[in-house]
Amino acid sequence: MFSPRLISKLHDAKSIVAFTGAGMSAESGVPTFRGENGIWKKFKPEELANFDAFIRNPDLVWEWYKHRKQIIRFIQPNPGHFALAEMEALYPKFAVVTQNVDNLHRRAGNKTVYELHGNIERNYCIGCGTYYSNEEILKFESAPKCTKCKGLIRPDVVWFGELLPASQWFASLDSAEHADVFFSIGTSAVVHPAASLPLLARHAGAFVVEINLETTELSNQIDEFIPGKAGEILPELVRLLKDSATKE
Ligand code: OAD
Repeated sequence: MFSPRLISKLHDAKSIVAFTGAGMSAESGVPTFRGENGIWKKFKPEELANFDAFIRNPDLVWEWYKHRKQIIRFIQPNPGHFALAEMEALYPKFAVVTQNVDNLHRRAGNKTVYELHGNIERNYCIGCGTYYSNEEILKFESAPKCTKCKGLIRPDVVWFGELLPASQWFASLDSAEHADVFFSIGTSAVVHPAASLPLLARHAGAFVVEINLETTELSNQIDEFIPGKAGEILPELVRLLKDSATKE
């Protein structure tokens, strides 16, 4: 499953980036966005995942996010997430750069996690910026309002047309530019600017590996494509890395 070239690159690497998308969490039971059963097949992003839609119909947007928040609350990291947490301990520099908002990388134990599209467990008031946890607001049937200024409370996720959080984006760029090996895992790699990271890393000298159930637009532009499930491939890879480390 793993080429000698990849194993040798991983053996010599000092800095690794794991760039992840919805496919990373699919085996935990979080639906992906695209594909047959993807979220965007059933719901329109223009009605749900943008600021104008929220102002137009806050209750509808709240209802949808409340539903997603409740799904995400009861799911668990899968073996792929845990493998990335184990991998972090094997390298001097390791960063997860994720497009996912489900917080599963941190829950699995990864320490350096850059969240490009926010985190669905956080919320903030659009009027005064006060943060609210899910626990504080999940009880509300309609869009919750800030107790300080009565402003609408929105999920701390990046909607279409919004800028990525600057600190997370610049940290991700820096990691990609300095990566020896860059993994692109479970992402269709079509939503920019996040999707530009794998090729940016490659131009900066990284060995770029894609793990996905199917090929994407990225697949023929990178160094190695590994077909299959992240939750199966990553634990296998970590086992191999640990075995080779103990034999040295
Ligand atoms: P997509 O739904 O576009 O792509 C998921 C990818 O994961 C597909 O290429 C699948 O083939 C692959 N996949 C599914 N299950 C897998 C598994 N078990 N192991 C490996 N691969 C698997 O999701 P993203 O690329 O994350 O943005 O989408 C990017 C952004 O589009 C999201 O962050 C979201 C969305 O609109 C915002 O909300 C801003």
